Amino acid sequence: MDLERQAVERVLPRLLPAEDQWPSRLHRAMRHAVLGGGKRIRPILACLANRAAGGDPEAITEAACGLEMIHTYSLVHDDLPTLDDDVLRRGRPTVHVAFDEPTAILVGDALLTEGLLVLASYPVGPQWAAARAEAVALVAEAIGSRGMVGGQMEDLEATGQVAGDRVPGDPGVRLDLIHRHKTGCLLRASVEAGAVWAGLPVDQRMGFVRYGECLGLAFQIADDVLDSTATAAELGKSPGKDAEADKLTWVTLYGLKEAQKRLDELETEIVELAINIEGPDGALAALARTVVRRRS
Ligand code: FPP
Ligand code: MG
Repeated sequence: MDLERQAVERVLPRLLPAEDQWPSRLHRAMRHAVLGGGKRIRPILACLANRAAGGDPEAITEAACGLEMIHTYSLVHDDLPTLDDDVLRRGRPTVHVAFDEPTAILVGDALLTEGLLVLASYPVGPQWAAARAEAVALVAEAIGSRGMVGGQMEDLEATGQVAGDRVPGDPGVRLDLIHRHKTGCLLRASVEAGAVWAGLPVDQRMGFVRYGECLGLAFQIADDVLDSTATAAELGKSPGKDAEADKLTWVTLYGLKEAQKRLDELETEIVELAINIEGPDGALAALARTVVRRRS
């Protein structure tokens, strides 16, 4: 896992436009957003899934970094005053605080676009053409209105930040829908893209997809737990925001104890799925454990 993280940290700065390249304010702000820390879970997941599917992660590091650029776009927009209004992210001032709000909107727009361009461009070479096309389509589908952005919309409606256009059903079902889309879709797509870059055909990817879905759910429940239990120093972002904004989360709906219990169940489930993919003591199981037990 450390090797993959180091590879991502080495490659990301090279994929982003240079600070002195026009328009330099935008490029400085993009680099502030992406290069200011972060756990790099999505590209690491893609690399680990790629190895487990028989690929060579070194060949796909650039492409995997496209996932981190797209993820960072979602964070920059999520932190905007009109959405979550957060001032701290990855232990540093959010982009709209360090720069300004219009710049932060454009940083998100540009990171999304550049991230997709990276997916469409890497790995380089005609032998990768089919994998590039498949990966870019599956990621685009995962982050669009029927995926991550859809989950964000449902989240806003559930919080009452925007007027909902349908009668909300059972809050538990709604919460599940939000988590599976807002957070789960990109995590699942990261795992699946890793398998695609390894050349694994669609009918052999089910185990990867299920691992990614379960991990996405666990990731978001852990996020909900941390929001109510961790400190700003641990998180690198302001805690306590969910209760303050009256958000629908696992903790606000079921309480901390239930959330922790569900997380433990999910950990067992995900580790089993990982073992099915790569046998015992594999990196996918280890990553699942760190995601569930993380403090940041
Ligand atoms: C933290 O990731 C991020 C989440 C828990 C996902 C939340 C979902 C969104 C922000 C989607 C919002 C969508 C739009 C379109 C605004 P992380 O803990 O991996 O963060 P890190 O990369 O900083 O470590
Ligand atoms: Mg937020």
